[in-house]
Amino acid sequence: MTAKLAPADPTAIVIFGASGDLTQRKLLPALYHLFLEGLLPARFGIVGYARTSMSDQDFRDRAHEACNTHGRCDPNPEPWRDFEKHLHYVSGEFTDPGAMAHLREQLEELDRAEGTEGRRFFYCAVPPEAYSDIVDRIGEEGLHRDSRIVVEKPFGLDLDSARDLNGRLHRAFDESQIFRIDHYMGKGRVQNILVFRFANALFEPVWNRNYVDHVQLTVAEEIGIEGRGRFYERVGALRDMVQTHLLQVLTFLAMEPPPSFQPDRVRDEKVKVLRSIPPISADQVVRGQYRGYRDEENVPPDSEVETFVALRLEIDSWRWAGVPFLLRTGKRLPERRAEAVIVFKEIPHMIFRQLGMEHLEPNQLAIRIQPDEGVSLSFTVQKPGAQIELDRASLDFRYGTAFDTPLVEAYEILLLEAMRGDHMLFTRQDGVERAWEVLQPILDAPRKTAEYKPGSWGPNEADELIA
Ligand code: BG6
Repeated sequence: MTAKLAPADPTAIVIFGASGDLTQRKLLPALYHLFLEGLLPARFGIVGYARTSMSDQDFRDRAHEACNTHGRCDPNPEPWRDFEKHLHYVSGEFTDPGAMAHLREQLEELDRAEGTEGRRFFYCAVPPEAYSDIVDRIGEEGLHRDSRIVVEKPFGLDLDSARDLNGRLHRAFDESQIFRIDHYMGKGRVQNILVFRFANALFEPVWNRNYVDHVQLTVAEEIGIEGRGRFYERVGALRDMVQTHLLQVLTFLAMEPPPSFQPDRVRDEKVKVLRSIPPISADQVVRGQYRGYRDEENVPPDSEVETFVALRLEIDSWRWAGVPFLLRTGKRLPERRAEAVIVFKEIPHMIFRQLGMEHLEPNQLAIRIQPDEGVSLSFTVQKPGAQIELDRASLDFRYGTAFDTPLVEAYEILLLEAMRGDHMLFTRQDGVERAWEVLQPILDAPRKTAEYKPGSWGPNEADELIA
């Protein structure tokens, strides 16, 4: 069963921050791949905008290199030549009205050449501080009317700045034009949480406090901060990972069934989950910093910024009252693994005591987001043999072996959905503000980080919190 994704109407795509890392690593390869798949509009233009001075050809060369290095580039040069014709570049400061006027001319030219008819798709691949200048200039040039705007995470640095940012965006755009992106929402395996829960009759009846003991959500990374010291010093793992990816995935795990699979019905349920999480206090959180972080470029030697967070929260609702949700994320951990594990309650009465067993391990359902995407359900079975002896076994579903088709890159899905105007996977204003509200008490508390050894599962205090 598939819902066919139709390309959007002719559109001019503008990338602010076109010389940056995100554009090179994710956006250009994703756009090229969508083009190869025939999923970009039949007529389109891509305009890169950044401070770096470059000609159209320089931008095309850079884009080619980016797609070769980071994408699934077609070795056949023919499609690339077709694609690169659509790439253009404007250089300038985001505050510079002259450069923005130049952008407007470029877009008017595309209206004529490609029939984009004023439809613009702005992508802000820049730090949040730059959004407001960009939005103001877009408004001044009157470019916002039939447009959509995508803004990257983190959306602000706390509740006040997120509100402020929303206010600024709304000066030119209304909510229906704004797409706040979180690339975890584009990971097919994250969307599979909803399908798994709401397209099967088996799991929903046990998806609650009567059967679930606790839920663990882990996003572990082996890499460190990869030269992003300046960025990390401003955000830390709480803002970079918890406020965004982890809380978003959590809403899919915990939400009530929406009445229908309509963007706002799903987003209503996501926001309800966030509203049911009482603001988190400092004693529910352990922050860690990997040894060696302070030696990274642009990190001061006395930095207390966290590269690891473990936190324990509850969701005050009929479904989840009393069920702890344990969230954990960190850099320089032993492996790259993102998964949600639903740990069920122990059996109510043990009839196998005479086998010398007091406890049986509870059933666990693991939803693996990456790598080795899939779902596993573990349970107890009898070992082969004449005697009753118990052992653990599991039912495993793996995307890699069950399907021939590879999972689509998160940015490809999100770009496509935003261009088509579908908000399902994007965070709404009330959702993003509530996520900040939940974390605000920890953000306000003095930062205290415990050091951990690279390659370990974080500081010992994290194990205590989880235990
Ligand atoms: C980004 C964070 O949003 O997500 C990075 O800024 C992090 O710090 C990355 O490394 C993880 O994404 P993925 O898709 O590699 O799990």
